[in-house]
Amino acid sequence: MSRANFTTVLQQELDRLDAAAISKRHERTIEDFTADPAPKGIINGKPYGIFNSNDYLGLRHHATLKSADHAASQKYGTGPGAVRFISGSLRVYTELEAAIAKFHGRQAGMLFSSAFAANLAVLFSFIKGQSKDSLVSGNTLVVSDELNHRSIIDGIRLGNLSSEQKAIFPHMQGDALRAVLQENLGKFDRVLVVTDGVFSMLGEIQNLAVLRKIVDEFDEQFPEGVWLIVDDCHGVAACGATGRGAEEVSGAQADILVGTFGKGFGADGGYIVADQVVIDSLRESSATYIYSNSVSPGTAGAALAAVQLVDSTEGKALVAKSQASVAWFKQAMQAAGFTFAADSQHPIQPLWIGDAAKAQALTKALFEQGYMVTSINYPVVAAGKDEIRIQISAAHTQEDLEAFVAACVSAGKSLGLVS
Ligand SMILES: Cc1ncc(COP(=O)(O)O)c(C=O)c1O
Repeated sequence: MSRANFTTVLQQELDRLDAAAISKRHERTIEDFTADPAPKGIINGKPYGIFNSNDYLGLRHHATLKSADHAASQKYGTGPGAVRFISGSLRVYTELEAAIAKFHGRQAGMLFSSAFAANLAVLFSFIKGQSKDSLVSGNTLVVSDELNHRSIIDGIRLGNLSSEQKAIFPHMQGDALRAVLQENLGKFDRVLVVTDGVFSMLGEIQNLAVLRKIVDEFDEQFPEGVWLIVDDCHGVAACGATGRGAEEVSGAQADILVGTFGKGFGADGGYIVADQVVIDSLRESSATYIYSNSVSPGTAGAALAAVQLVDSTEGKALVAKSQASVAWFKQAMQAAGFTFAADSQHPIQPLWIGDAAKAQALTKALFEQGYMVTSINYPVVAAGKDEIRIQISAAHTQEDLEAFVAACVSAGKSLGLVS
């Protein structure tokens, strides 16, 4: 009977989430895609324009990536077989790691099954090392931007730090970070300052030049220094003149950069780039690398093709197109009376709603007009800060954008959001 009691609790919890309009499990099934420049998803036989994907450059349907995926799986098989320290590294993995390190101007790169896994790995490893006899002390202070991604939060939680060892600085406020470092002088061996490069819910780009300067000011004052760790999953292959993300926009580099191949690059898998010694040590200490498979060879092949493509003339044109589309969309929506939750220059455009039920109603109204967008609500954003996260792709044509804005206006009017 005890298990029956718990399943009752689980059902009640699901009902509670549904009643509060914040449940996430009612996922739509996409059966197929159309052959449009920005392929529409077919759901129950009907095409839907996609404005809620992280595929910022429209690469996931690109013929070059598909054939690279096919070629790599023909050559290496469909799965990795085992983790790399047991069964060896497939050449496509090492080529991908070299390519992504070069793309970011770093000594070395390391591939993970996801960026979530990469964040868990780097935070846990740098907080305390992996085993009791590790030479890496656990006397670490971690300082994190208050709006950091869940994978960073969970990485910090894994370190099981005391409350003195954790500090959260107000979103993008460098002065507050400086104050935390000042207060903690003499108390810790090393400090990890960790931030998103682009904040996934608002599209805001962290000012890495400000953080870099503060981190460098304090570096000499802790025995093992102050490390800037940046997760730029949404920035890479999305913003910056050549798609190098927040680092390129702000003109400053992280000590350790985490990225994903699963968003702008149109493939899948996470990565870290850094100095060789950092990557070598992560290969010894990252549980999510040592005890968990890599992405499939086909996916790594597609990711490698994506890195090469983003760096080509075609890739640069896609980044430029994305930036022009974002500027046009933002201006058209503001002219129609909509407000954004942040002034984002990134393909993430957060439409301000401020109420979970209204956000859900707008999402539904747009779906009825043939568009997929996603309402974002608690706990992903604070309660009352509900938004519709719209994501523009370089593959959207001007006609796609105009038709989508028209649909937003008509749905917005019917719900009284704009007049
Ligand atoms: C900032 C940030 N970091 C990490 C991740 C995780 O990326 P992946 O899907 O590669 O695990 C995401 C995706 O939601 C993200 O937005």
